[in-house]
Amino acid sequence: MNNKYENILTGIRPTGNLHLGHYFGATSNWVKLQNEYTTFIEIADVQALTDNFDNPDKVRKNVYELTIDLLSVGIDPKKSTIFIQSKIPEIAELTVFYSNLVTISRLYRNPTIKTEIKQKRELFGNDGESVTYGFLGYPVSQAADITAFNGTLIPVGDDQLPLLEQCREIVRKFNSIYGDTLKEPKELLSKSSRLKGLDGNEKMGKSLGNAIYLCDSEEIINKKITGALTDTKKIGKNDPADPNVCMVYYYHKLVNKDNVETVCNECKKGLRGCVACKKELISAMNKFLEPIREKRKYYEEHPEEVDSILKEGTKKARTQAISVMQQVKKNMKIDYFDE
Ligand code: TRP
Repeated sequence: MNNKYENILTGIRPTGNLHLGHYFGATSNWVKLQNEYTTFIEIADVQALTDNFDNPDKVRKNVYELTIDLLSVGIDPKKSTIFIQSKIPEIAELTVFYSNLVTISRLYRNPTIKTEIKQKRELFGNDGESVTYGFLGYPVSQAADITAFNGTLIPVGDDQLPLLEQCREIVRKFNSIYGDTLKEPKELLSKSSRLKGLDGNEKMGKSLGNAIYLCDSEEIINKKITGALTDTKKIGKNDPADPNVCMVYYYHKLVNKDNVETVCNECKKGLRGCVACKKELISAMNKFLEPIREKRKYYEEHPEEVDSILKEGTKKARTQAISVMQQVKKNMKIDYFDE
């Protein structure tokens, strides 16, 4: 069933491949949502460039990598419109118009921006040089992403809530000045919280080297899981241990659901050694990843298909953006003449 009154709009920055955290926290949910709603998925290359403007090769490469990842997990281009942000000039136009409706101090107070600026300062020093105009303004651009497609339901993690609040403020301000034009978006909070890394770190990521990627080969999975953190108090193979401090158990819960109770009980009673337990997880993880890998292989071998999915998706998305833009320009009284 297609809910005609709501548009799903979500975005993702093409800065790296998808890992299990993305899968369980976001994309597996998008795969379900695409059956119920008109769904737009933006490959946010312009937003990726706010952080990576000096690395265009990285962004370019990851636009394709990410598209393949999305298709591999089951995003269906017949149901979801996958498009490239930079190819929709209306988003950039809207960003300029919205930038009049947001104060600089409000942007600095945005908790997501605040956290990200803090991280930048830790990396690059405290001189403020690291904060560009483009970076500070990305919440404005994200409001344009959402409203250009009449996005009303936005599947996000809780780190994105301040950006959505900022978007709603922009929408209200716009509508109060120029008349009812834009729709206010609501969040669709993803249920599962962030996944921990294989080393037990609260965050999973490339720089930490503790993530399992959907494109990891069997060999890499083998190596990564073999090195995962277990209960450090367990010395002998038959010592009882605490599964709740073990990352191997943590991942059993995700990809080995059928046997997870046995894993837990045997671990607590000292009936299973860590080596065997890791082997079982390696096999379950490879089984889980296999269909994803297969699809990836297909798209890697058919790059022209990936190109045409992006091209078609972008074309379709643009039609929607143009129609919103016409209304925006009319209400802002800048619809001077038809081209
Ligand atoms: N900021 C989001 C992230 O880093 C990506 C994004 C870009 C997005 N545009 C969006 C998310 C629009 C939701 C809606 O994950």
